Amino acid sequence: MRETDCEEAGRRLLRWYDGQARVMPWRVGPADRMAGLRPDPYHVWLSEVMLQQTTVAAVRDYFRRFVARWPTVGDLAAADDGAVMAEWAGLGYYARARNLLACARAVVRDHGGCFPQTAAGLCALPGVGPYTAAAVASIAFDEPAVVVDGNVERVCARLFAVDTPLPAAKPELVRLAGLLTPQGRPGDHAQAMMDLGATICTPRKPACGICPLLGLCAGQAAGLAAELPRKLPKAAKPVRQGVVWVLRRADGAVLLERRPERGLLGGMLGFPGDAWDGAGGEPPLCAPWQAVGEVRHTFTHFHLVLAVQSATADGNPERGQFVTDFRPDDLPTLMRKAWDLATSVPVE
Ligand code: ADE
Repeated sequence: MRETDCEEAGRRLLRWYDGQARVMPWRVGPADRMAGLRPDPYHVWLSEVMLQQTTVAAVRDYFRRFVARWPTVGDLAAADDGAVMAEWAGLGYYARARNLLACARAVVRDHGGCFPQTAAGLCALPGVGPYTAAAVASIAFDEPAVVVDGNVERVCARLFAVDTPLPAAKPELVRLAGLLTPQGRPGDHAQAMMDLGATICTPRKPACGICPLLGLCAGQAAGLAAELPRKLPKAAKPVRQGVVWVLRRADGAVLLERRPERGLLGGMLGFPGDAWDGAGGEPPLCAPWQAVGEVRHTFTHFHLVLAVQSATADGNPERGQFVTDFRPDDLPTLMRKAWDLATSVPVE
């Protein structure tokens, strides 16, 4: 697309969004927005933090549960850390949940419970990076900030037929996204770009035939849409080995340990384990341990194969605490897999 066609593309995109906007629990749709309704900045911020690295489908129920339990940023700021980590369990990338609490508390402590209304102000909050700041400023406050997530990168790479591979192409894609961003309705524009990327300009098999930007898109005209954006091949992830000990007492209590704040699964509940460095370690209690198998989980930088040891025993463990009202739903996914495996095998 020629850069002079940006205004036309922006108009078409908003017209398409007016008819096709996806309904989301945190979103004020285009008709309501036109009628003067404004999104709740707390909802916009919470949804954007949840949506990082996670799909809309996975986030919906978490979002509903969070706002039912903590209806305002003040309620969230006053929440118990463990309750928030438990409610987040299963969403992954647990640093986001710790930053979420830190951010809610900063909004209450430093801003009287009101979110700053500019991307620059939002960026100064804990855990709020350039993407989240731009998205919240744009969607909640209609600042024409340039919002660039993976969807927007893909749409821009195709629209302007950018051949440079990611990540080198990123600055150019941000510049092009900026050319497309209108002064009027920037929040709806940002959400329209995301919806287009999620429903029509999809990673594989884009539906160019029904795209509102058909005729303007250089990638489509060149027959390249499905191949863009180009990406440098990723290095293969290393595989790490570890072990966890799932210990149940005769009365049904389960041995749990809260993981250190810093590091993987930081602040989450889990079973005692080793350092995931292949060296093994000492179990928390002398017991008739039974190897019940392995669970696998992929983190950002490595694959983990975790050997699961299970036992039923009483005694005073060297680590962790026996918990009587344990809820498997409060565990992060990796630990949940270990629990499901341990409880699917009868202990001797
Ligand atoms: N992905 C991330 N933020 C989004 C939003 N506000 N709407 C749709 N998809 C999104």
